[in-house]
Amino acid sequence: LGPDYYRSPGEWTYKGYVLGGYNRKDIFECPDFAEYRVDDCFVVSYPKSGTTWTLELTQLIMNDGDPTFTESAHHNDRIPFLEYKYDEFPQWEGLGILKKLKSPRLIKSHLPVSLFPKSALYKGCKVIYVARNPKDVVVSYYHFYKTTVEFGEYGGDFHDFLKQFMNGKVHYGDWFTYMLEWWKYIADNDILFLKYEDMKKDPRLATVKIANYLNRNLSDEVIDKITEYCSFKKMKKHVTNENNEGNYMRKGVIGDWKKHFTVAENEAFEKIYNERMEGSGLKFDW
Ligand code: A3P
Repeated sequence: LGPDYYRSPGEWTYKGYVLGGYNRKDIFECPDFAEYRVDDCFVVSYPKSGTTWTLELTQLIMNDGDPTFTESAHHNDRIPFLEYKYDEFPQWEGLGILKKLKSPRLIKSHLPVSLFPKSALYKGCKVIYVARNPKDVVVSYYHFYKTTVEFGEYGGDFHDFLKQFMNGKVHYGDWFTYMLEWWKYIADNDILFLKYEDMKKDPRLATVKIANYLNRNLSDEVIDKITEYCSFKKMKKHVTNENNEGNYMRKGVIGDWKKHFTVAENEAFEKIYNERMEGSGLKFDW
């Protein structure tokens, strides 16, 4: 990468991780200021891995399938994005919303485990981690970068973006480092690990897994209802993204990378994947 690679507005780097101008800078110095509660539940992921989907499922499960709360407010108002603080959208500052919410709270975060608030982890808060194959992540991220205000509406092409991604020069940094750090933590802790591809292949099972993890005893009928409510088609309709005009819901498929990668890019990607992920035991369907 030359010195002219794309940087989004206000971009900064912390402990090797590239972060966006919408990521608050004080969070790492004040790990306790959110006063995490034992019954808090986090959904954590590298961006574009199925976070919104998992959050909707989890919130409905926490409400026993009743969509009233889900439908009552904008996604960002009912699910605080922990590290979000952006002058253009002050109403969505994660911590402000977090403090206003009643328990049990559902919280979104993309923080790498090394930057994740330790007080939440020590307190035994629930953590659901969702991962997605990185080829589809980079494609989804590319489209998101192009259409999202906070990212400066990237004007480059996919091939340049892929280079940035492979160099870790995108928000939340290098996918491999991020994934491996969390993967190690997940192995030793009571965290629910989900994969986007498994969720696509058996969405009902994902609902059951989340419900079991949260100790929610739901009837088969409610499980079916929640799963159906969170299908891509239905969610596209009800997830309002007033600021982003729905760019969290794009295609929702496995394998869109095949329409974007050249043969050479794919070979190079696989080589790096195999080198970086060797010994991790982590495999993705792509
Ligand atoms: P694509 O851009 O490949 O379509 P995140 O919520 O982590 O930002 O992830 C966004 C990705 O998840 C987008 O992928 C989006 O379309 C997909 N997605 C969102 N809701 C989904 C659903 N209910 N079913 C399947 N995919 C979904």
